Amino acid sequence: MSKKINLAIFASGTGSNAQKIIEYFTHHPQIHIALIVTNKPTAGVLNIAKDAGIPSLVIEKERFMKGDGFVPFFQQAKIDWMILAGFLWKVPETLLLSFAHKIINIHPALLPKYGGKGMYGHFVHEAVIANHETESGITIHFIDEQYDHGAHIFQAHCAINSSDTPETLSKKVQILEHQHFPPIIEKTILEKN
Ligand code: GRF
Repeated sequence: MSKKINLAIFASGTGSNAQKIIEYFTHHPQIHIALIVTNKPTAGVLNIAKDAGIPSLVIEKERFMKGDGFVPFFQQAKIDWMILAGFLWKVPETLLLSFAHKIINIHPALLPKYGGKGMYGHFVHEAVIANHETESGITIHFIDEQYDHGAHIFQAHCAINSSDTPETLSKKVQILEHQHFPPIIEKTILEKN
């Protein structure tokens, strides 16, 4: 059997997307979730990793941002692709260069609108509602050296009506994330490998 493609999932929060990705790739013939990475020792995603029996790594800022970016660690762990699912730190250049076009992010809005530094989580949905947008959605994209800027892979839309609040919108967007992120990861990786 040929070697599986190893993914590392980066997440800073509760990890509901990480959970869906893990479930989707359990028993996958070609793709294996090999590592969960977080910057928060209290992140819910660590419990998800533990329950799934997946190794995890808590990264420290100075080394990640200004040191080796944990590149030797990821190479030793034979990581092939990185999936950012609610990871809030900017990925340093050293990691970007080592995993060029192999890092995928999900953003809870229709980029290029509502992206950039500070545009994450509820801030995104509050801004979308405050601007009376009639739709929002998700953007799955490669990352580059700017926040929320790399080449788009996929977008899905949802309608916003006058009774929507940032909370109800976040639920609609989360449904799209859970539905589309795992299969789009699969399709993108298998097409490129
Ligand atoms: C998602 O909305 C994702 O788009 C964003 O961060 C959130 C993560 O949520 N980048 P969860 O931790 O996967 O529930």
